Amino acid sequence: MRLVKLLSNLGYGSQRDVRAMIKAGRVTSVAGCALGIDCQADHSDILFDGVPLDPPTGVALMMNKPVGFTCSTADPGRIVYELLPPRFARRKPIISPVGRLDRETSGLLLLTDDGDLLHRIISPRSVVTKTYKVDLAKPLRGDEAALFASGTLMLRSETKPLLAAQLESIDALAALLTITEGRYHQVRRMFAAVDNRVVALHRLRVGGMDLGELPPGEWRYIDVGDMERIFR
Ligand code: URA
Repeated sequence: MRLVKLLSNLGYGSQRDVRAMIKAGRVTSVAGCALGIDCQADHSDILFDGVPLDPPTGVALMMNKPVGFTCSTADPGRIVYELLPPRFARRKPIISPVGRLDRETSGLLLLTDDGDLLHRIISPRSVVTKTYKVDLAKPLRGDEAALFASGTLMLRSETKPLLAAQLESIDALAALLTITEGRYHQVRRMFAAVDNRVVALHRLRVGGMDLGELPPGEWRYIDVGDMERIFR
């Protein structure tokens, strides 16, 4: 790929801006030679302002999403892209959230620009589990685990019952819930269906992957081994 298009697709600027950056000598080889507009250098041999380029297409990362951030590129409020390097929101192909978390939900959010990987994770055929810690407004009644596991729970305005989900209570007002689907506001609606209300929701795990020690608001790249843990 030509240098201008490569840098522009990585979000360094519009093609016009990138041309000006190249002319100003900000783009060099690792050996220190200024690169020209029509150059075809290898991604790994290019520095921008002396720093290696952001990774090429095929990126996956995990974030510990804080409450108050929307999984969107354009929202009047705060968005998860604010927590990533500013260039990431301008990349082509875009790095997208793999399934959304609500603004008021925190925890493990995966993002990737790999469309095949994204579809593999969210495809119902992959049956990737998602585990949430749920804090509730009212004590559990005691029948929720059996109802959620039954595969018969119908959410309001839906025509198909939910697949079986696993509920494990922590105490009267908190539980772990593992689901395999990703319906709109699913966890909040499941508890609304049993006359309760979710007051805090935090995603702990997607498949075999968890946040580890990643602090709230931080992110890190995921390597190939990590990706396979999603499908364990
Ligand atoms: N279920 C919800 O209700 N909200 C989320 O963010 C994720 C699952």
